[in-house]
Amino acid sequence: MRDINQYKITDAVKESFATEPGSRFEQLLHGLIEHLHDYTREQGVTHDEWMRVLNFLYDCGQISTPERHEFILLSDVLGFSALVDMINTRGGATEGSNLGPFYLDDAPEKKLGADLSEGRDGAIVLVHGKVTDTLHKPLPGAIIDTWQADGAGTYPIQEQAQGQDKMDLRAKFTTDSEGRYYYTTVLPKPYTVPYDGPVGELLRAGNRHAWRAAHLHYIIRAKGMADITTEVFFENTEYIDNDAVFGVRKSLIAKVQPLRKADQFDYALDVKPDAVFEFDFILAPEG
Ligand code: BEZ
Ligand code: FE
Repeated sequence: MRDINQYKITDAVKESFATEPGSRFEQLLHGLIEHLHDYTREQGVTHDEWMRVLNFLYDCGQISTPERHEFILLSDVLGFSALVDMINTRGGATEGSNLGPFYLDDAPEKKLGADLSEGRDGAIVLVHGKVTDTLHKPLPGAIIDTWQADGAGTYPIQEQAQGQDKMDLRAKFTTDSEGRYYYTTVLPKPYTVPYDGPVGELLRAGNRHAWRAAHLHYIIRAKGMADITTEVFFENTEYIDNDAVFGVRKSLIAKVQPLRKADQFDYALDVKPDAVFEFDFILAPEG
């Protein structure tokens, strides 16, 4: 490997790995090396610039804890998380969007019609809709796993030191015999992604803000269908056109409507809502 230069080095590095020919691992590794070497050559990266990259990654590692994964945040603000969501959305199914850092897999199971707001400040909204397959056939027994911020833009899990229960504002519902789900909750407000670390510095360096458009998170599961992880957004709300993690898609936006006297819902609700938000989820077959 003496006869090496800035062009030959790319093949040399690829060949230095004894990967299984044609394997997915080989494909991903070779692609990564090729693209990053091309980028480095094209940009004529200097020693100082490269060291800044390495120190930035070091800082991301230093601030990371089991509760705070700065590399996921980096992936989010650079649009990689959104890109992977987009690539992996199945034809005809609801588009995927950010999982974010606040999901807990053991949210309490609640009955349809339950209220998640539990007296919190803010507008109370009836959230309802149905879960169907891509041919619009309702899916009874589907699981709606949801979590969200409160009317001040805070997740209870972030406020445990102030006495909040991390299981608040989250629940698992099961769709009824017509594939319907319905519950009441407080309308969440926008909030910022953490910006007191290296990713925050990156945002400031690029004159970017850290705000996310207000949203509700969902994972929807049903037997024989591929799960979807997504978020839904409220029309005409702040940051809908410049969400810090590129989570918004046109198909994931719906309107919060004031509850009108004429509205008739045959749902048994624990709390009377001020407004209504309707969103249907579509699942594609697994496999
Ligand atoms: C969230 O949607 O909960 C979220 C996403 C990315 C970073 C921080 C929070
Ligand atoms: Fe969120």
